[in-house]
Amino acid sequence: MKKILITGGAGFIGSHVVRLFVNRYSDYHIFNLDKLTYAGNLANLSDIETAPNYTFVRGDIVDAEFINQLFAQHHFDGVIHLAAESHVDRSITDPLSFVLTNVVGTANLLNAARQAWKNDLANHLFYHVSTDEVYGSLHDPKDFFTETTPYDPQSPYSASKAGSDHLVRAYYNTYKMPVVISNCSNNYGPNQFPEKLIPLSIHNIKANKPIPVYGKGENVRDWLYVIDHARAIDVIYHQGKTGETYNIGGFNEWRNIDLIHLLCRIMDKKLGRAEGESAKLITFVTDRAGHDLRYAIDASKIMHELGWKPSLQFEEGLEKTVEWYLANTEWLENVTSGTYRQYYSDQYASR
Ligand code: NAD
Ligand code: TYD
Repeated sequence: MKKILITGGAGFIGSHVVRLFVNRYSDYHIFNLDKLTYAGNLANLSDIETAPNYTFVRGDIVDAEFINQLFAQHHFDGVIHLAAESHVDRSITDPLSFVLTNVVGTANLLNAARQAWKNDLANHLFYHVSTDEVYGSLHDPKDFFTETTPYDPQSPYSASKAGSDHLVRAYYNTYKMPVVISNCSNNYGPNQFPEKLIPLSIHNIKANKPIPVYGKGENVRDWLYVIDHARAIDVIYHQGKTGETYNIGGFNEWRNIDLIHLLCRIMDKKLGRAEGESAKLITFVTDRAGHDLRYAIDASKIMHELGWKPSLQFEEGLEKTVEWYLANTEWLENVTSGTYRQYYSDQYASR
């Protein structure tokens, strides 16, 4: 039985990856290593927590001694590394925790894997899950991020992810560590913490609170349903070429303001409100510092070489997402209490 370590498996994307691997591969034992920060939530995995091929381990990837012991104890065949600090706004107020988890944490995992796999590197794989934000901000509407676009990160979050990507490539080049990296566009779907644009807006619309739109709402993001990202990770883990990078995206660009209007129309329908009611909550607020204008992924490589493509159209995915949040009020209430509320009241007090 192969042992796969998935880091950050209690978070948004990680929980969908863990579920897919546990359900699909009964010949793999999946270890989910997560610190359970504000963003980690074991309720995301309640349906598979008793599966015989699943084990949860609570721990911090910044703790090198703990990570080395874990690798010595379990002899993992592969690692899928998702654990990270993931929110740009938080990286602006607290950049150091991003450097620690995203850069130092990734270095600790690479070191532990190198030590554990040194006599049999070829039969192992270190898969690093990254973001398109490492490529910076697009200004010419004709441009797309490809796998050869030079790195130009602009926020502490994207700089820390770029640092981790560089380390992963350095281990491939220097130690011949078998690695693969993917850089994905913005995800949306069930289990996303309501600090990110789509779940925050759903939460506020439902509660009749203002929907904060940064600047003029003209920034563009390229949205992918989270389960399509998890499917891509599965395909890359099994068929990706060692040492390669794959960009993942759905050719689905939206200006924030247009996306919010679409979301408001869906919410009006689902909540039985008059058309246009939810859109009255749109509130333009001070722009994010250093706000990247546009992200857009050219996903031709993964589509042509590995045969992956998104399964859902955006409106369908957004509607499913709204339905999930409306049906899971307890999940939403649990994660919007305590530290999260404090963080957000501090944020908006300073605007
Ligand atoms: P998330 O914030 O929802 O989850 C991150 C998880 O990592 C949480 O469960 C958290 O508890 C865990 N974690 C954080 N610090 C840790 C530490 N020091 N040790 C162990 N566990 C720790 O993030 P997400 O949105 O699911 O993103 C997952 C990965 O995918 C990240 O690497 C992110 O950079 C990348 N990514 C995200 C997106 C997106 O749109 N959300 C897009 C592309 C790539
Ligand atoms: P976000 O979901 O934080 O993802 P990222 O910054 O990684 O792209 O933000 C998506 C876009 O929405 C981004 O352009 C910032 C904007 N935004 C708002 O306008 N209002 C908000 O409350 C948030 C959280 C984001």
